[in-house]
Amino acid sequence: MSKATIDDIDVGGKRVLLRVDFNVPIRDSEIIDDRRIRAALPTIESLRSRGARVILVTHLGRPKGRPDESLRVGPVATRLSELLGVRVPVADDVAGESARSLVAGLRDGDVCMLENVRFEPGEEANDPTFAKQLAELADVYVNDAFGTAHRAHASTEAVAHLLPGVAGKLMHAELRTLGDALEDPRRPFVAIIGGAKISTKIKVLENLRERVDTIWIGGAMACTFLRALGEETGTSLVEEEQIETARRLLSDERGGRIKLPIDAVVATRAAADAESRVVRIDALPAEAMMLDIGPDTCSAITRDSGDAGTVLWNGPLGVYEIPAFAEGTRCVARALAASHAETIVGGGDLAAALQEAGIADGITHISTGGGATIEFLEGATLPGVAALRDREAIVQ
Ligand code: 3PG
Repeated sequence: MSKATIDDIDVGGKRVLLRVDFNVPIRDSEIIDDRRIRAALPTIESLRSRGARVILVTHLGRPKGRPDESLRVGPVATRLSELLGVRVPVADDVAGESARSLVAGLRDGDVCMLENVRFEPGEEANDPTFAKQLAELADVYVNDAFGTAHRAHASTEAVAHLLPGVAGKLMHAELRTLGDALEDPRRPFVAIIGGAKISTKIKVLENLRERVDTIWIGGAMACTFLRALGEETGTSLVEEEQIETARRLLSDERGGRIKLPIDAVVATRAAADAESRVVRIDALPAEAMMLDIGPDTCSAITRDSGDAGTVLWNGPLGVYEIPAFAEGTRCVARALAASHAETIVGGGDLAAALQEAGIADGITHISTGGGATIEFLEGATLPGVAALRDREAIVQ
């Protein structure tokens, strides 16, 4: 990767504005998944140990440019304090009087946190005046917020033009792992793409199709592909307006790389008390819907994953929130954990589900990005990455 990182610059005694993505799920003031906070620890620890004065900035939720009591960053700072073993004080504002005085009191190795950056209307507007207020707090800018790198906001984009801006360790790891998978994968390269709708994954499928040896399609979107092949899909979710796209993806010279489920778990309703059964894919009943991949499909994916050099997985393969339709996703997770391949899971809900089910450990890399990972896999340029300094520009 061509972007400079914190290892390329001197941070001792400097005020470092560190953009992190601590947009974590919180229920009743309890953080229910702290992976994004843990993932930023190597960067924070490295900066502290080198004598930097660390000023953390994150968004939390979507408060739309206004303060929202339920979205204050206090719980996040508390969790970070526990993980670091030092108190992380929080400013009452983002870049106002409170933030300035907190930063002025920092000593080398200290850490503090600004209030939710999306309380400021200038954040999502990528406003240069607000970016200047942020920049004035610091000497150096570090972006470790891979999960927000697809947003051109003041704290991810504009500020990087006002201070020397480099990547943190998490950002670097995400870009290297996902970038290597796309540009220089160990082969065979197998992708597994799930989720409900083709429409949200078309660009990912198009980009991956050029690079992989095999793409398995699961989740409800497999039904749109099945319809394109003329199969009966019962009451399954089908995107009628995408059937033509699915037909095109299947029929051109890369179409042979796409593999569809060979069996499915079906029921008349997506409900915990619905009666479910496994059927062959060419025997989906007219009154039922596909809610998970079946065991033979999982066995086939397991075989392909076992032989692969790289496996990249994005999107659940069934309605995994309901136990009766979660086994396909779990079975594939176990296959990846047992595989000797480089295994990469593209974040979002799927990553949280694997973590919760305790089957995340054997996976080589679980991305902290949701939308950012999807856009990266589409081949898009992420504004938060593009704005950072190129390594050649600062390393002689
Ligand atoms: C995410 O959770 O995907 C990131 O934190 C970005 O959040 P956003 O979709 O609200 O910009």
